[in-house]
Amino acid sequence: MSEYEILITAAKQARENAHAPFSNFRVGAALRAASGRIFGGCNVENATYGLTVCAERVAIFKAMSEGERGFDAISVVTDTETLTPPCGACRQLIWEFCGDVPVVLANLKGKIEIIQMRELFPKPFDSSNL
Ligand code: THU
Repeated sequence: MSEYEILITAAKQARENAHAPFSNFRVGAALRAASGRIFGGCNVENATYGLTVCAERVAIFKAMSEGERGFDAISVVTDTETLTPPCGACRQLIWEFCGDVPVVLANLKGKIEIIQMRELFPKPFDSSNL
């Protein structure tokens, strides 16, 4: 059993709430704070398409708005054979708010892959560039 099993389960649960009537691509994410609290998120689409928010960013904003700072892992779950990595926009925010954390990709069948943010986002722009 992976040390990330609880995080993956939380992402699966969050995925149940995905609002994806346009793409039908349902995504769940879960973010673990340094405090130990876990925040789930799902993708939320809307009729403009462009204002859609990904599951990862929903989880991050939920946690930030609850006052959490400092995160040590994030999980992304989809029902796909090829696991789903975070999109470019989400990589930027995961990097800025979480840093070089493990990104735990999983599907509903138990396939798991763990990639460090450094690997997913090798040359980031962040506050150190300002
Ligand atoms: N999506 C996410 O929520 N996270 C990802 O990592 C990839 C894409 C969502 C956005 C949109 O609702 C749907 O998946 C298709 O792009």
